Amino acid sequence: QWTTASIVAEQVEAIRAQVGGKRVICALSGGVDSSVAAALVQQAVGDQLTCVYVDHGLQRSGESEQVERDFVAATGVNLKVVDASEQFLSALDGVSDPETKRKIIGREFIRVFEQAAREVVADDSVDFLVQGTLYPDVVESGGGAGTANIKSHHNVGGLPDDLQFALVEPLRTLFKDEVRKVGLELGLPEAIVYRQPFPGPGLGIRIVGCVTAERLELLRAADAIARAELTAAGLDREIWQCPVVLLADVRSVGVQGDGRTYGHPIVLRPVSSEDAMTADWTRLPYDVLARISTRITNEVPGVNRVVLDVTSKPPGTIEWE
Ligand code: XMP
Repeated sequence: QWTTASIVAEQVEAIRAQVGGKRVICALSGGVDSSVAAALVQQAVGDQLTCVYVDHGLQRSGESEQVERDFVAATGVNLKVVDASEQFLSALDGVSDPETKRKIIGREFIRVFEQAAREVVADDSVDFLVQGTLYPDVVESGGGAGTANIKSHHNVGGLPDDLQFALVEPLRTLFKDEVRKVGLELGLPEAIVYRQPFPGPGLGIRIVGCVTAERLELLRAADAIARAELTAAGLDREIWQCPVVLLADVRSVGVQGDGRTYGHPIVLRPVSSEDAMTADWTRLPYDVLARISTRITNEVPGVNRVVLDVTSKPPGTIEWE
C-alpha cells in the first residue's frame, strides 16, 4: 500500500541512484511543483543541489519572500537569488501584445537562468536539472517533454548546446494531490503546498497594456487586497485561482472626496476549475466582493472602479492575456 512516506522514500532512493555524486540545479518559481521537486532532491542529495530563483519583478506581493525566506527555512536549500527586475522591465518597455510579452519574459528568463547556471557550474560540473513535471503533463505530451498550449508557457527549455542537462523529474508519476501530500511530508509550509496556480510570466500578463514599474506597483497593491480578503473569508481552497487584472489603457470617470477622478479599472477574475482546461466563474459572496471593492478603491490610488468577470472558460480564458 502506498503511503506518502513510502513515495518519498522511493523517490529519494531513485534520485540518489540517478544523480550519484554529481551536482544538480533547479529553477525555483515559487510554485507548488518546482518547490516540492526541489525539496525532494534536497532531501535526497542535500548540498549537491543549488536552486536558482530568478526575481523578474513580476511577482505578487510577498512571493519572493516566500521563496527566499520560507522555502529556505523549511528545506535548508542552497539558494542563489538573481534580482533581474530592471532587465525584465527594460525588455518589456513599450510592449503591449500578450504573446510578445510572454516571449520576452521567457527569453529573459532563460538568459538570466543560463548566466546563473554558468556561475554555479564555474566551480564544479553540474549535470542535472530538476523539473517539476507531473504525471498529467507526461500523459498530455505523449511521454515526451513539454506540452502544447494555446498560449506559450515558459519553462527552462531553450538552453544553449554547451549547457545541457539530464533531467531529474521526481514528480513524474504523481498527481497534484499527491504532490501536495509529499510537500507536507517534507515539511513545506501550507502557503507553498496549497498555493493557487500563478502563471510564469506573472503580473506581466495581468496588465492589459504596457508593463511599467508604476503599473506593477498599483496591481500588486490591488492583488494583495483581493487575496487578503479571499483568504480571510476562508475561500482559498474553494477558488481555483483569482487573477486580478489592471486595465491600464482604460480610464473611467469617478467621484471621490471632493472631486472627479479619471482612473483605471481593476478586474476580479475568480474561477472554479478542476484542471484549468475549463472553468466557471466563482459565485463569490456579495459581502466579500463589496469589501474587496471598497478597499481597493480606497487604498489604491489611481483605481476608481472594480469590476467582476462573469465569463466561463470557454469562451473566456482564465487569464486576460
Ligand atoms: P488560460 O488563461 O489559458 O490559463 O485559461 C490556464 C492556466 O494556465 C495559467 N497560465 C500560464 N501559466 N505561463 C504559465 O506558466 C503562462 O504563460 C500562462 N498563461 C496562463 C493560468 O494562470 C491558468 O492557471
